[in-house]
Amino acid sequence: MSESSPDTEESNSNPNPEAEPLVPLKEYTIEEIAKHNEEGNLWFMLGGRVVNVSAFDDHPGGPDVFESVAGKDGTDDFEQICHSNTAKKQVQDYVIGKVKGQEVKDLMLINDSEDSTSMVLAIIVVLIALGAYFYFQ
Ligand code: HEM
Repeated sequence: MSESSPDTEESNSNPNPEAEPLVPLKEYTIEEIAKHNEEGNLWFMLGGRVVNVSAFDDHPGGPDVFESVAGKDGTDDFEQICHSNTAKKQVQDYVIGKVKGQEVKDLMLINDSEDSTSMVLAIIVVLIALGAYFYFQ
């Protein structure tokens, strides 16, 4: 019997679409993005991506927040809200391209509120373990 190839099943799926898109993203200049700055025609930049949120009516933070970043770079605003990993994955649904001359940043590397909680818990566990170690010396 012939050996089965381990990656036959996954050969068509991209394990990390955020980092390495299969189809090269269309590039837009900052000037072009700036023109899409009104309700119904609303783009903004997010970590080097261009997102079109014109049809994103059920944004949990409300549709109005997009007006503050319309045609501009909304990366800092997006990061400040501490969006969840679910929200970061959802961004992909609105990506239409990348900003010319900019690198596409991995949004998952931005601190997630759940990740921060896990980090605090991990530090507490390490401190307790160290305390116990020295206490029983
Ligand atoms: C395509 C881009 C975006 C997506 C997919 C998105 C998605 C989401 C999602 C799923 C939530 C619910 C909470 C969570 O899961 O984190 C949320 C909440 C929120 N978002 Fe966004 N968001 C985007 C861009 C932005 C931007 C640019 C801003 C600010 C200008 C913003 C402001 C907020 C606010 C204020 C909340 C409510 C937070 C709260 O209730 O505590 N979002 N967003």
